Amino acid sequence: MQRKQIAIITGATSGFGKIFTEVLDDQFSKLDELWLIGRRSDVLIDMSNELHHKTKLIPFDLKRSENLQRMKGILKKEKPAVKFLVNAAGFGLTGYMEEQQPEELAEMIDVNCRALTYLSRACLPYMARNSRVINFASVAAFMPQPRFAVYAATKAYVLSFTRALNCELREKGVYATAVCPGPARTKFFERAEKYEQAGSYKELFMVEPEVVVEQALHDSIMKREVSVYGIPMKIMHVLTKVLPRKWIFSFLA
Ligand SMILES: NC(=O)c1ccc[n+]([C@@H]2O[C@H](COP(=O)([O-])OP(=O)(O)OC[C@H]3O[C@@H](n4cnc5c(N)ncnc54)[C@H](OP(=O)(O)O)[C@@H]3O)[C@@H](O)[C@H]2O)c1
Repeated sequence: MQRKQIAIITGATSGFGKIFTEVLDDQFSKLDELWLIGRRSDVLIDMSNELHHKTKLIPFDLKRSENLQRMKGILKKEKPAVKFLVNAAGFGLTGYMEEQQPEELAEMIDVNCRALTYLSRACLPYMARNSRVINFASVAAFMPQPRFAVYAATKAYVLSFTRALNCELREKGVYATAVCPGPARTKFFERAEKYEQAGSYKELFMVEPEVVVEQALHDSIMKREVSVYGIPMKIMHVLTKVLPRKWIFSFLA
C-alpha cells in the first residue's frame, strides 16, 4: 500500500506557520494530509474547517518532552511519507535577560531548539528523496544581540544546525532550509515585548509574513540552505559578516 504523503507544520495556529499551512494547502494537491501542531486546539479546529486537505490536529505543547515522544509514537504508528517538515513554532523575549524569568528562558530554548531538533530527527526515517525540512531561524541568528540575547542564540543554533543537517542529508536527496526573516507582522511581538519594547528599527523593516513564506518555499524548492527575504535583510546579513561587532551593537542599542 502507498504510504500517505504528508506535511507537518509546527506553529500552525499563527503567523508564519499558519500561512505556510495555507500555502501548502493551496499549492500541493498531491499531499494527502496536513498535520498541524500548536497548543490552541480551538484554533486548530477552525483552521481545519477552512483547509481543503484532510488534517491531523496535534494540540501539543512542544516544550514538554512527553509530547515529543508522543509525536515519535504517532509517526511510528502511521508511517507516513513526510514531504515537508516546517518547524515554525517559536518565540522570543526582548529586554535584559537578567530581568526575565529563568523558566521562560529555558522554555524558549526548549521550543526554539530542542523541539525543532527532536522533530527533525524523528521525521528523518520518514523522509525520502526530495523531501524538505524548513526551519524558522531569524536575522537574529546572524549575530549576538544584547537585549535579545537568548532568542538570538537559539536562532544561531537553528541556522547552524540546519546548514549542517542540509549537508548531512545531501546524499539522501532531502534538503533543509533555514528561514531568516527580519521583523514581520505576526503575533510574535505581542509575546516578545512582554518586558521591553523592541528597538525602533523594527517598524522600519517590518514586512508582511506572506512574502517571507513565499520566498521561503521558493528557496526550499530551489534547495537553498538559507532563505532571507528582502534587500534590507540581505544587506544586514552581509554587514554582520564584515562590520566589527561593536558597531552593530551600537546601532542596535
Ligand atoms: N515575526 C517575526 O518578526 C519573526 C522574525 C524572525 C523569526 N521569526 C520566527 O518565526 C517563527 C514563527 O513566529 P511567528 O512570527 O509566526 O509568531 P507567532 O505568530 O507568535 O506564532 C508562533 C507560533 O508558535 C507556536 N508555539 C509557541 N510556543 C509553543 C509551544 N510551547 N508549543 C507549541 N507551539 C508553540 C504558537 O502556537 P500556540 O500558541 O497555539 O501554541 C504559534 O503558532 C518563530 O520561530 C519565530 O522565532 C519571527
